[in-house]
Amino acid sequence: MTVSGGNGNGNGRQPKPRVFLSGILPAPALQPLQEGEFDCAWWEGEGNLPREVLRREAAGADGLVTFLNDRVDEELLNLAPRLKIVANVAVGYDNFDLAAATRRGILLTNTPGVLTEATADLTFGLLLAAARRFGEGRRLLDSGRWQAWYPLLLAGQELNGATLGIVGLGRIGQAVARRALAFGMKIAYAGRRPVAGAARFGAEFRPLDELLRTADFVSLHCPLTPQTFHLIGRKEIAMMKPTAVLVNTSRGAVVDQGALVEALGAGRIFAAGLDVFEEEPLAPEHPLLSLPNVVCTPHLGSATHSTRLGMARLAVENLVRGLAGERPPNLLNPEVFDR
Ligand code: GLV
Repeated sequence: MTVSGGNGNGNGRQPKPRVFLSGILPAPALQPLQEGEFDCAWWEGEGNLPREVLRREAAGADGLVTFLNDRVDEELLNLAPRLKIVANVAVGYDNFDLAAATRRGILLTNTPGVLTEATADLTFGLLLAAARRFGEGRRLLDSGRWQAWYPLLLAGQELNGATLGIVGLGRIGQAVARRALAFGMKIAYAGRRPVAGAARFGAEFRPLDELLRTADFVSLHCPLTPQTFHLIGRKEIAMMKPTAVLVNTSRGAVVDQGALVEALGAGRIFAAGLDVFEEEPLAPEHPLLSLPNVVCTPHLGSATHSTRLGMARLAVENLVRGLAGERPPNLLNPEVFDR
């Protein structure tokens, strides 16, 4: 077991609230935990936090700081009689069973806003890399088989004048739209309903089917919910243009990955840029990794030093405020607090 920390209960006074973190956070984010009266421990091992460690630690915890792969579900919550708050270091919270936590009066929080620009940057990087075949170019150089310049050598898709279809025009979708406008793209979007302010991007609301049929690029920015699980499946991919590029920086399971592998292998769409996968970490032998027309990154959407620090700070602030009986700034189930 590789768990560190633990400040003890201190001089027979009131026991300190026990806090467990799923991993190491950037040091400056830990300050409020060090300054406050907390008995704090964290996972220091390699890889994702093992389930059995989370179960054991949850059993004695007042607060948890979790990462996006830690399932906080009925089974875990049943083991955690003291738990008051779980603070995710992520904007997405598909790892939470919101209803189960709410029934038990446990506060849940996430970290919206701070990661918007970094995630939009990574999205745009993947879009460019997939459209302009960065991966294939690099592999050609590495192979020593680059013999000549000729007009169709690794020719890709042009951004200027193309339509970017954004699925989910929320904070991150809008930040991607801003970047796309600077590249001369037109914006269309799909989602549950039209978004106020979409006109700022000249963005046209379309039903998903129509968006898929008409867009040159499709970028996914919706949360993973039962409604968006495999939102982009075989049928939807078949609607896309053969020249289309699909980008996913939301959650892997929004796309039916098996159907995507098939379509990319058969050249039914041009390329994909993927930061998220149905199973993370992605196995090195996964067929996605041997397709030339796929550019992949290992869930790095928010991975800049300043953004990851911002997320960690926000998660710790949510946790500390919740444990102090205050309303955390990014509360996902306000009904618990307002009861
Ligand atoms: C990352 O995927 C996040 O949800 O913050």
